[in-house]
This record gives sequence, C-alpha cells and structure tokens, in this order.
Amino acid sequence: MTPKDQERYEALLRQRLSDHRMKHSLGVMREAEILARIHGADAEKAQIAGLLHDMTKEFSREEHFRLFDQYGHPDPQISESKNLWHAESAYYDVTHTLGITDDEIRSAVRYHTTGNENMTLLQTILFVADLTDETRTYDDVDFYRAVAREDVTKAAYLAMGWCIEDLKNRGLTPHPRMLREHARLQTVFPSVTVENEKQRRNL
Ligand SMILES: [Fe+2]
Ligand SMILES: [Fe+2]
Repeated sequence: MTPKDQERYEALLRQRLSDHRMKHSLGVMREAEILARIHGADAEKAQIAGLLHDMTKEFSREEHFRLFDQYGHPDPQISESKNLWHAESAYYDVTHTLGITDDEIRSAVRYHTTGNENMTLLQTILFVADLTDETRTYDDVDFYRAVAREDVTKAAYLAMGWCIEDLKNRGLTPHPRMLREHARLQTVFPSVTVENEKQRRNL
C-alpha cells in the first residue's frame, strides 16, 4: 500500500475506532504481513486486509444495516448475530468508502470471523492474524502464533476448533461455514490436536 493510502486508511480508522481497536488493527496488519511473507501470500494485500478488517466494528446497528440495505443482505445467521455484522459490512465498506475492489482483500475481510469453505491462503492468514496479533493476551496466544508461523492452515484448524467449542459453551451456534471448513481441515490434519502440538513443542 502506498504511504498515502496507508495514511488515508489510518485517518479514517482513527475517527471510527477506539484506541484499543486501532492498536489491534495495526497489530493485525503487521502479523498478517509477517504470515504472508513466511507462507508466500501477497504481503501488501495481507497488510491492507489486516489494517481494515475491523473498520466497521464499532458501527451502530443502523450503520451496518444501511450498508446491507444498499449492497446486499447477509444470510439470516449473520443478520441475527451482531458479532458477525462487522465482517459483512466491512466487505462492502472497503469498496464503497475506500475504493478497494480487489476480491482477495475483500473476501479476506468478509470471512475473517467465520472462516470460509475452502479458505484461500489470504483468508486463512487474516483469520489467524486476527487471533494472534501483538495485542492479544489470552493464555495460548504464543502457542497459536508459533504454530501459525510454521503452518498457518494448521493454526486456522486449531483456532476454529477452539472457537467452535467456545461458542457452544456460550450456548451459541457456530456459523455453518466454520463448521464445514473445520470438518474439511480435520481430514487434512487427522491426528493434530492442541495437546499433541504442545507436546511436540515441549510446552
Ligand atoms: Fe473482527
Ligand atoms: Fe479483529
């Protein structure tokens, strides 16, 4: 991204986001870039998607639905879960507010919370970078970050397993996209679990 574009994007984000979420956005930009360089994805697209992925996260219900009314309503499971609105509204907003038309960037933003069936490398990178950026502080963050830098798809698989459990424990239903992708990745990593990955790393 050109310095001028970066300045323009950051200026908009600073108007819209709390300090904490601004730091998270910059952190995801950096982590996505690192993962892209390691795993051979487009580092510039990863940075842009990382910086902008939460650009509508602090929108009101009205602001999200104004974008949906204009550009397309998401499936009912997304319309009914407010945690999922921002990925869908940002998918439209990156284009209509910032003029970004690149489909790889847009789709990475769109699927950053739920994941997607047959995720692309850039989608996988953003999904994982969102959970492992430098502002995250949960117990296993170093573990997930290390796995991601070695095998980002494996990290996405393990993180999805964690998300699915967490949602179920909170009485929420994971989005079918995540369940399907998790099931597909289970066939790719049939014997991988958090426990045996930790053992392998002597953690
Ligand atoms: Fe998000
Ligand atoms: Fe995020």
